[in-house]
Amino acid sequence: MPEPMTLQAFLETSGADDPAVDQVVAVMAGASREIAATIQLGTLAGRMGDARGNQNADGDEQKALDVIAHDTFTEALRRAPVALVASEESDSTVTLDADAPLAVALDPLDGSSNIDTNVSIGTIFSILPARPGTDGEASFLVPGREQLGAGFIIYGPQVSLVMTVRKGTHIFTLDPARGEFRLAQQDVRIHPARTEYAINASNYRHWDECVRTYIDDCLAGEDGPLGANFNMRWIASMVADAYRILVRGGIFLYPGDQRRGYQQGRLRLLYEANPMALVFEEAAGAATDTVNRILDIKPRNLHQRTPLVFGSADKVERVARYHTDPSHDFTRSPLFSHRGLLRV
Ligand code: F6P
Repeated sequence: MPEPMTLQAFLETSGADDPAVDQVVAVMAGASREIAATIQLGTLAGRMGDARGNQNADGDEQKALDVIAHDTFTEALRRAPVALVASEESDSTVTLDADAPLAVALDPLDGSSNIDTNVSIGTIFSILPARPGTDGEASFLVPGREQLGAGFIIYGPQVSLVMTVRKGTHIFTLDPARGEFRLAQQDVRIHPARTEYAINASNYRHWDECVRTYIDDCLAGEDGPLGANFNMRWIASMVADAYRILVRGGIFLYPGDQRRGYQQGRLRLLYEANPMALVFEEAAGAATDTVNRILDIKPRNLHQRTPLVFGSADKVERVARYHTDPSHDFTRSPLFSHRGLLRV
């Protein structure tokens, strides 16, 4: 079997139109090896899941590894043509090289609640054009459709980079012996048939009626309005749920709910929802805040949250329909229920 292409070779032949974007992807991949090595040592590297006694800009408790990952990626990005970094772990933007053409939004460590549990965690990034002559935030307060590239690294049984430079979504896996990422799957296409959903079901009582109806319909299985038996998975690391959905299909939901502070859900638009939305759209999937396409939302501030639903396009569209079609209650009507006459 011929050896799979290295990330470097792939970027040289099939990379972005602007080589600066490829440089950011390469630097993110390089720095992720350091974080992966630390994670693989678990507590042998120190107590990475311990709270640092402070909160990040969004009020989440910062863990030791959140801060290490923020510092590692921010420092590494000095080796790429990056003017600005916006990170979940920093209140305001960080200026690297004011004259450089790009801005990078980062979630340095996604899934921090799983650090101590030996469950997959990750790093998410979004690449935007920098807007010279504006304040730091202006480069980031643009709709996600302006991203030049995006991706995430998952630190799991394999360390993998999922990335797009707007020419499809591709997966690279780290060969630890050689310290190189190699192409594992080119041009990922999300499987529409898989009936699997990911949601934190313990929040059921807090959801709105539309989300409850969709999940009830999944639970109703092949006798219900969706006409199929659904399986459920929830890892509580978005990167891990996203990776599974990319390779075998399904849908992820983190909706807004009635808990204080959760009206707009839990996930951040700039460095979680936007990059995930680009990765999924480039793989023939979709992403919505239940009403709007994620990539069309104009952010108002760096740490803005958004309800987030992504996965195979048909399922995502259905959830949006439950929210936007005033007759969405039809799924509960006796006519359409499992004993009903008119299944939809
Ligand atoms: O903060 C992001 C995150 O850790 C995601 O990776 C994950 O999907 C979600 O939060 C888990 O949230 P919860 O603990 O509410 O289920």
